[in-house]
Amino acid sequence: MLPATIEWKEGRLLLLDQRQLPSRTEYVSCESAEETARAIENMTVRGAPAIGVAAAYGLVLALKGEDFAAAARRLAGTRPTAVNLFWAIRRMEALWRANEDKNKDELYLIMEKEAKNIHDEDIEINKSIGRFGQEILPEKGAAITHCNAGALATAGYGTALGVFRAAAEAGKEIKIYADETRPRLQGSLLTAYELQRDGFDVTVITDSMAAFLMSRVKIDAAVTGADRVAMNGDAANKIGTYSLAIAAKRHGVPFYIAAPLSTFDAGCASGEDIPIEERGGGEVRAVGGVEVVPEEIKVWNPAFDVTPNELITGIITERGIIRAPFAENIKKFFPGRKR
Ligand code: MRU
Repeated sequence: MLPATIEWKEGRLLLLDQRQLPSRTEYVSCESAEETARAIENMTVRGAPAIGVAAAYGLVLALKGEDFAAAARRLAGTRPTAVNLFWAIRRMEALWRANEDKNKDELYLIMEKEAKNIHDEDIEINKSIGRFGQEILPEKGAAITHCNAGALATAGYGTALGVFRAAAEAGKEIKIYADETRPRLQGSLLTAYELQRDGFDVTVITDSMAAFLMSRVKIDAAVTGADRVAMNGDAANKIGTYSLAIAAKRHGVPFYIAAPLSTFDAGCASGEDIPIEERGGGEVRAVGGVEVVPEEIKVWNPAFDVTPNELITGIITERGIIRAPFAENIKKFFPGRKR
């Protein structure tokens, strides 16, 4: 059993400290929205759905004495790319506004229930993504993934890794290749750990090995998560996903994104509208604590990239797989949606 990513215990938010995995299983306790915001910023908790759930609980904690609107702004300012964060904050804010007339205790219980709903729903949504997604995989084969879109990046089960889990539950034998995912190594430290603990046959490769792997080994599918999907199907995900999609296209490997509908952003017509987080250069400068870039040399560290829709075979959601033409088919999943 994997340790829970997020727990709500007696009015405290416990976050599995993902910076310590796989060597240590430790939890960070958050007792305010400010502490939750810091935990999202410093990547104690990471992964699009997981930071949305954490922010929802953060807004429950805010009711204990922080200015609610300021707390919502603080949480929204933590990371810019994963839209689930803003989606969860908007959902909590709307409920708060609708119940402003309630007394403090009633309001707290209503908000706490909503955060728990967001938490529980995410697990159910991932299981549903898994059920639809496992159909793309053969009875026996191999798949590749990038970053960590597993139980650790969500409330549980995972999106991309949920597809592999559902395939295994259906009796399929799928060997998984996990890109290590420079510079934060979510693939080797989190995905490989998660899959290994679940009994998968998992092999780690460096990101640059993916194309060569596809030229030598039959890979049945590439499946990754997403941090934000534009209305034309362009999808932002961890840096390196775009290169994986190009390699997949070159080798005829179907490339799938697995993401809940809360990851789609009606405010982004195409990938060009998706804000991309740029992180500190230190993550590129050092590998395992050893400096690998001379101090006087510049580095660039975008944390995400955008895979254009023409490289995507399908987007696996909790309501089915969306295929090209994406703009037209995505619209059918959001009848009358306003931002
Ligand atoms: O920077 P991170 O670790 O938060 O980035 C995570 C990813 O890019 C995941 O692949 C994405 O959030 C999908 S998670 C189900």
